[in-house]
Amino acid sequence: MSGLRSGRWLDGDSLRAFGHRSRLRQLGYSPPDYKGKPVIAIISTRSDINPCHMHFAERVEDVKRGVWQAGGFPLEMPAMSLAEAFQRPTSMLYRNLLSMEVEELLRSYPVDGAVLMGGCDKTTPGLVMGATSAGLPSVFLPAGPMLRGNACGKVLASGTSVWKMWADRRAGLVDDGEMEAVEHGVARSAGQCMTMGTASTMTAAVEALGLALPGSSSVPAVDSRHAQMAAEAGRRAVGAVREGLVPGMILTEAAFDNAVRVVAALGGSTNSVVHLVAMARRAGVGLDLARFDRLCRDVPALADVAPSGEFLMEDFFYAGGLRALMARISGLLDTSAITITGRTLGEEIEGAQVYDERVIRPLGDPLWPGGSLAVLHGTLAPDGAVVKQTAASPELLVHRGPAVVFSDYKDMERRIDDESLEVTPGSVLVLQQAGPVGGPGMPEWGQLPLPKKLLRAGVRDMVRISDARMSGTSFGTCVLHVAPESAVGGPLALVQEGDTVSLDVPARRLDLDVAPEELSRRRRAWAPAPPYFARGWGKLYATTVRQANEGCDLDFLEYGPGTPEPAVH
Ligand code: FES
Repeated sequence: MSGLRSGRWLDGDSLRAFGHRSRLRQLGYSPPDYKGKPVIAIISTRSDINPCHMHFAERVEDVKRGVWQAGGFPLEMPAMSLAEAFQRPTSMLYRNLLSMEVEELLRSYPVDGAVLMGGCDKTTPGLVMGATSAGLPSVFLPAGPMLRGNACGKVLASGTSVWKMWADRRAGLVDDGEMEAVEHGVARSAGQCMTMGTASTMTAAVEALGLALPGSSSVPAVDSRHAQMAAEAGRRAVGAVREGLVPGMILTEAAFDNAVRVVAALGGSTNSVVHLVAMARRAGVGLDLARFDRLCRDVPALADVAPSGEFLMEDFFYAGGLRALMARISGLLDTSAITITGRTLGEEIEGAQVYDERVIRPLGDPLWPGGSLAVLHGTLAPDGAVVKQTAASPELLVHRGPAVVFSDYKDMERRIDDESLEVTPGSVLVLQQAGPVGGPGMPEWGQLPLPKKLLRAGVRDMVRISDARMSGTSFGTCVLHVAPESAVGGPLALVQEGDTVSLDVPARRLDLDVAPEELSRRRRAWAPAPPYFARGWGKLYATTVRQANEGCDLDFLEYGPGTPEPAVH
């Protein structure tokens, strides 16, 4: 017997082992290809509808090359693609389903380790959550950002430029010709969104956790160094199997603290809060919102990358990439944390240099002094809410105003541009029924569009509050992830037109200024909406999903011992 997990399928004189070996021969492999070698599953989230991963067909071959070189046996195993740009109501509804697929792929097949290929938003947490639960040595291979967008002589940023342009178009300032030029030029190559949106935030977070090769998350998808890095990921997966380097040895409390601090230094996406909490729980680490806020407070935001800053991921890579940024904040990190290379984080970032201080700012001249992501609590959000200060208007971070309430997304679409809507720039736009259960899936509706009449008057930001998420490429004073959500009877469900809402980000407060007796009266009159799903995955999801402050995982997938290896019959 080889001593490898895969050997329990492939070795020995049994009918089952004979069957497995004969079917490998059917695939064209003979014992010299696999006998005694670590079997590496290459879990690729490529599909014909995912433009962010369209280079994965080539990269799988690069990974295989690395696995062969290191003496392993590579097998590609596709998993659901989760193409952010196409899935409705939101790819977030399927993050946990991907994680379950990954866990079961790794558990049920003769596999010793894995290379996890993802990058487009929810693929990264989904892959990592599944591999963490499976407990096999795994290397995460980031898709890498696409090239900068370009049209009409302008650099374009994924999402960010489009949100700005769309607001201008609604104000009557952008014609059809410009719209079409941007449609042609905003996404020019394979790779994930090239802003510091959810995709690039999460791939960086996984590198900071130690589960991706040092420097790998910053390499543009179409750079030749990406193919080289893919081969290295294959080699390392074989090494990690030989060393027994399972995710549980890497995904420690210190590693998650490092990831949170790196996200703060990047001015990263609010979505990272939900994903990191869920990933931590899979690893048995109790990361909660209070800890998240505490860890962020003294970390300066140094990455001058859109939507918080000016530059894009390609510039970030040329400026030195994530290793350089981590080296710059190394005093705030636990550099003794072990990474997938078997070396410490400190060893991996030593000597990394910043080549452009406009993109990766000096500690003494940050984009934001500390707490780029802030967690709020109060009578409107007893279990928490999240705001991204670097993407907000500073003058709105302390604000009191009357609520304009939309009971769901359809209600908002119907009324937001109604000229008779009673709304002023000082109003607070409130969206209900947009959380994990209500959305369903907690869609990225949190950056509510501004009323056309205010856009025409030149208004470009207002306080917006919801239990939804917001695209990582978005900006604005948007208070998100309000928990408990309105669909399960959180205070957000009780807000009525004209109620005064108080936001005080420096004090980390979000309050509804309504008397408790009145709120009790409203609560007695409140009833939940009927379930959205009658069957299938959606029904399982809606009946078991956790709230945003708990990471939105399914309750039976969180903490707990791994599922045993399948028995041989
Ligand atoms: Fe795939 Fe943005 S749409 S990363």
